Amino acid sequence: MVVYLIGAGPGNPELITLKAVKALNKADVVIYDRLANEKILEHAGEAKLIYVGKKAGEHYKSQDEINQIIINEAKDTSNNIIVRLKGGDPFVFGRGGEEILSLISEGIKFEVIPGVTSAIGVPTSLGLPVTHRGVATSFTVVTGHEDPTKNRKQVKWDYTADTIIVLMGIGKMKENTSEIMKYRDSKTPVCVIENGTLPNEKTIFGTLGDIGDKDINTPAILIVGNVIDVFKEIKGIK
Ligand SMILES: C[S@@+](CC[C@H](N)C(=O)[O-])C[C@H]1O[C@@H](n2cnc3c(N)ncnc32)[C@H](O)[C@@H]1O
Repeated sequence: MVVYLIGAGPGNPELITLKAVKALNKADVVIYDRLANEKILEHAGEAKLIYVGKKAGEHYKSQDEINQIIINEAKDTSNNIIVRLKGGDPFVFGRGGEEILSLISEGIKFEVIPGVTSAIGVPTSLGLPVTHRGVATSFTVVTGHEDPTKNRKQVKWDYTADTIIVLMGIGKMKENTSEIMKYRDSKTPVCVIENGTLPNEKTIFGTLGDIGDKDINTPAILIVGNVIDVFKEIKGIK
């Protein structure tokens, strides 16, 4: 028996690894999230499917409840291969570490199969380089929605990396950009990518000063920095 913690990639169902597909092919159970593309589940054949993401009007499963579901399935002797499928990479704002720690506490065997994180795969699939010679030698990936129940705020926005990539920040766009503007010019170019790698993908350009006024839908990421000008050049946008 083994639990595979698998990254499903950023959205497009073909952006999953071959190793992940092989694990899904032999899975007895797949426990999956909202951001994992459901087309990927076709690789799991007759496996039992357990959805643990958000559903309108229904109780939202806590992380503890999800951990317990994985443990229960792993302890069920009729299961040999359990897949925990998460959007992007399980260890990039995916709480994969917490799930692994709960498996370790029960002595359950696991393996991690990484995925293409939306933080990098969404911009790069469009031709937006997160580093570029002479323009950006570093990037930072940060949450735009820090858990409000934390007793110590960790996001300070004074990042020295050339490119800043913000996940989960759409609901707090104005708040976040005004924090970043304490350290960067309001004219700094930015770009938002909605539904990256999916058929309804949308790119919205702006500056730190005006992106908060644009109409943006989730899931989306914000990319801040001069690499946006390189991206515009690549796309032939003035
Ligand atoms: C809870 S985090 C999970 C990230 C995931 N583990 C990863 O590595 O991509 C969810 C956030 O990822 C970003 N995201 C995920 N999929 C996306 C997509 N297809 N297009 C744009 N942003 C996406 C959004 O910022 C969203 O709020």
